[in-house]
Amino acid sequence: MRHKPKVLLTEPVFSEVSNWLDEHVDLHIGKRHQFNDEATLAEQITDFDGILSMLSNPVTEKVIQAGERLKIVANHAVGLNNVDVSACQARGIKVAYTPGVLNEATADGTLALMLSLVRRIPESEFFLREGHFDGWHPTSFLGLELNGATLGIIGMGRIGQSVAHRCKAFGMEIVYHNRSRLPEDVEASLNARYIDKPSDLARISDIVSLHCPLTPDTRHLVGKQFLTYMKPGSYLINTSRGPVVDEAALAECLHDQRISGAGLDVFEEEPELHPRLKTAPNTVFTPHITSATFKTRRKMGMLCAGAILNELCGMQEEACFFS
Ligand code: DGY
Repeated sequence: MRHKPKVLLTEPVFSEVSNWLDEHVDLHIGKRHQFNDEATLAEQITDFDGILSMLSNPVTEKVIQAGERLKIVANHAVGLNNVDVSACQARGIKVAYTPGVLNEATADGTLALMLSLVRRIPESEFFLREGHFDGWHPTSFLGLELNGATLGIIGMGRIGQSVAHRCKAFGMEIVYHNRSRLPEDVEASLNARYIDKPSDLARISDIVSLHCPLTPDTRHLVGKQFLTYMKPGSYLINTSRGPVVDEAALAECLHDQRISGAGLDVFEEEPELHPRLKTAPNTVFTPHITSATFKTRRKMGMLCAGAILNELCGMQEEACFFS
């Protein structure tokens, strides 16, 4: 008989999180990338009662079936696209995730990406470091002014609303598309106008920012067709999930300079960067870091650990279960 439940933490997180788990469970910590493929995860999961997974770990139906003892999957992300939630539910396995705690960090990161892109910060910094700065010039590095520009948000959940809140303070006009319309008082507080069709939102936005989950409906939502609706001179920001954008179509659109630029934090085949995007002009890329603040990433880990301890050790810790 086991003394303690066995838990797989697929890669190292804050030591505060792993130490806490280690006090109560038999904890096995994987190495970075070790569990990024389905076969390895399925082979190793068999003996574990719980898993604390990263968004790079494919917790598929095959993995769930192999995890005969599994009682909980705690995913270190708000997005659950890497977890087969239905397969877990069919087996009565609890699914925990981290909604709520990363809204502000992700919204800050989105604004950082947006401002870097439309004010050409990385490009102009490179110019300066390369020794090309020869003094102030009236038409050097011109960009888009946020005040008065229209921001089109697709996916107006908690993160989308935190972005809207910040952009309202910048004096932007805010339009949004979402599965369901927000209550009137929330719309009013954000100064946000609902647009029924994503294509109409694309037609009127100076910046389109994506904050929807990745689902079969949103995969390649921004594809060739959508990009043709976007205004000439407009920008695309994606801090949601890479496959919401068809990168091949976006790369062509950028090479043809049909829109003014794109700021991407997430990619279709992470950690790979599409070769045509790599050479596309007017882009700012970051490596999936918009939620990466000490405060948020620590909190994400603690929420996952709390869920595991609740489920496997009968503790009463703060946690978020998906239902
Ligand atoms: C999430 O939680 O889904 C984020 O992408 C992690 O940064």
